[in-house]
Amino acid sequence: MSRTRPIVAIDGPAGAGKSTVARSVADRLGFVLVDTGALYRTVALAASRAGLPYAAAEEVGALAESLVEKDAIAFLRDARGIRMTLAGEDVSDSIRTPDIGMGASTVSAHPRVRAALLEMQRQAGRAGGVVLEGRDIGTVVFPDAEVKVFLTARPEVRARRRYDELVAKGDTRMSFEETLADVQKRDAQDEGRAVAPLRQAEGAILVDSSEMGVDDAVEAIARLAREVSR
Ligand code: DC
Repeated sequence: MSRTRPIVAIDGPAGAGKSTVARSVADRLGFVLVDTGALYRTVALAASRAGLPYAAAEEVGALAESLVEKDAIAFLRDARGIRMTLAGEDVSDSIRTPDIGMGASTVSAHPRVRAALLEMQRQAGRAGGVVLEGRDIGTVVFPDAEVKVFLTARPEVRARRRYDELVAKGDTRMSFEETLADVQKRDAQDEGRAVAPLRQAEGAILVDSSEMGVDDAVEAIARLAREVSR
C-alpha cells in the first residue's frame, strides 16, 4: 500500500516515556497521535464496571468484541486534546490509575481482546501521517510502518518516573519499592504473554531514554520520520 505520509510506530515497556515522546513527535510533525494502550485500559475499565475479573479471558473477550461492534470505544478530539470515550462518557482520567494499568496488562493477554482491537488500530493508522504508541505496533499492527522505534529505559528509571507522576497527582498510596515491583510485574506480563508479546520489532531502532532527555529522543525520531517522508 502506498502512503504519502509515514506511519511512526513507537513501542516499549510501561514508563519508558512513550506517551510524552509520542505526543511531542506527533506535534512536531503535525501527525495524528494514537495511544493504543488507552484502548486496552478502556476495556479493563469496562470489565471492572461489569464486575468481570480481568483474568476471565472469554467473558472479557466477548465484552471487548461487543464494545467494538457497537462503536462504544472511541477517540474524541476536543480542546483538551485527544480524549478516550466509553459509550459516550469521557473516561480519559478514570483509565489512568495503577489498578486499570495492571488490568489493561491482564486483559491485553486475551487473544479475543487483541483481535477485537486490532482492526480499530489499523483503521486509525492506515492513511499515514500518524504516530501510534503501544506494545505491538511494529510487530503486529503495522509491521510495514516506515519508522519503527523501541523506546525503553532501565526498570528503576521507569519506576522513578511513574512514582514521581503519582506523587505529583497527590497519590501517595504506593511506595517507590511497590511502584518498582509493579513495573517489573507488568514487564513480565507484557513480555511473557503468548499473543503479541512486547519485544523489539524487526527493523526497529532502539532508543534508551534512561540517560537521554525527552527532547533528544523526540528529535531523533522526528528526524527519522522526515527522512522517509521525502
Ligand atoms: O501503555 P499503557 O500503560 O497505557 O498500556 C496498558 C497495557 O495495555 C499494557 O500493560 C499492555 C497493554 N497494551 C498492549 O498489550 N498492546 C498495546 N499496543 C498497547 C498496550
